[in-house]
Amino acid sequence: MSTRSTKSAKPSANTKAKKITIRDFAQKKRRGEKLTMLTAYDYPTALAVDRAGIDSILVGDSLGMVVLGYENTLPVTMEDMLHHSRAVSRGSEAALLIGDMPFMSYQVSVEQAVANAGRFLQEAGMDAVKLEGGVERAEAVRQIVAAGIPVMGHLGLTPQSVHQLGGWRSQGRTVLAAKRLLDDALALQEAGAFSLVLESVPARLAELISKRLRIPTIGIGAGVGCDGQVLVVHDMLGMFDRFTPKFVKQYANLQEMMGTAIAAFQDDVVAERFPEEQHSVAMKDENWDKLLAKVSE
Ligand code: KIV
Repeated sequence: MSTRSTKSAKPSANTKAKKITIRDFAQKKRRGEKLTMLTAYDYPTALAVDRAGIDSILVGDSLGMVVLGYENTLPVTMEDMLHHSRAVSRGSEAALLIGDMPFMSYQVSVEQAVANAGRFLQEAGMDAVKLEGGVERAEAVRQIVAAGIPVMGHLGLTPQSVHQLGGWRSQGRTVLAAKRLLDDALALQEAGAFSLVLESVPARLAELISKRLRIPTIGIGAGVGCDGQVLVVHDMLGMFDRFTPKFVKQYANLQEMMGTAIAAFQDDVVAERFPEEQHSVAMKDENWDKLLAKVSE
């Protein structure tokens, strides 16, 4: 790695892709066009997602589980999120970049929520933030939006409340819970959220909420009636195999491919098939002979 430049490369040198904004989100909803979102936590993944034309990249706090190896998202800190958000912003040109506010960065006070939301834009190149919760977070959403920062909500299975929810359980299945979800969604819209994620809720409820709202819903385990879809990139690429939620469609098995490639490297080194001549640094015969003469003196 030492011979490589430490400067960050531009995603695409010649063509400048048009930046997606929250206005495009609103427009796509009005036109009935589906929105796409994937998570990313590093520069190369951001490059791939952006180049594929995905509308939005979420630097999700799922980072804690799929990249940092924690049991859940609760240990993730603001510093973790900012560090990975910076890498993603260096790899992205067009996608709307959303930084996920980690546990305890917005729950303690509205002032702290606004200050931490601001750090995502000021220090990490994000365009918007996401936070979990409904009516109880409406004031924080209102104040963050008032500070000029677009906010995406997140309802249903909200991983930061995993203990409160009694585990990784789908939400909104009873009449009461479904009605509360609808009220939460309306409260977030009224507070100024530009969009919201619906995670692991009945498809027919997600469709109803999506129809009632002016702002677009982005579903994950919430059926086809949402205005867009999001997946955790490590799940859809098969890079995280501790568990795969039922709602994930796996488009590749990169964990298996990595295993095969790494085992091949191991075998090649042991059998001296690697490195070959093209992987080695050459030295002129003349210099080599002089060196031998010197060291054999
Ligand atoms: O952290 C995350 O990746 C998320 C998505 C599952 C929406 O919140």
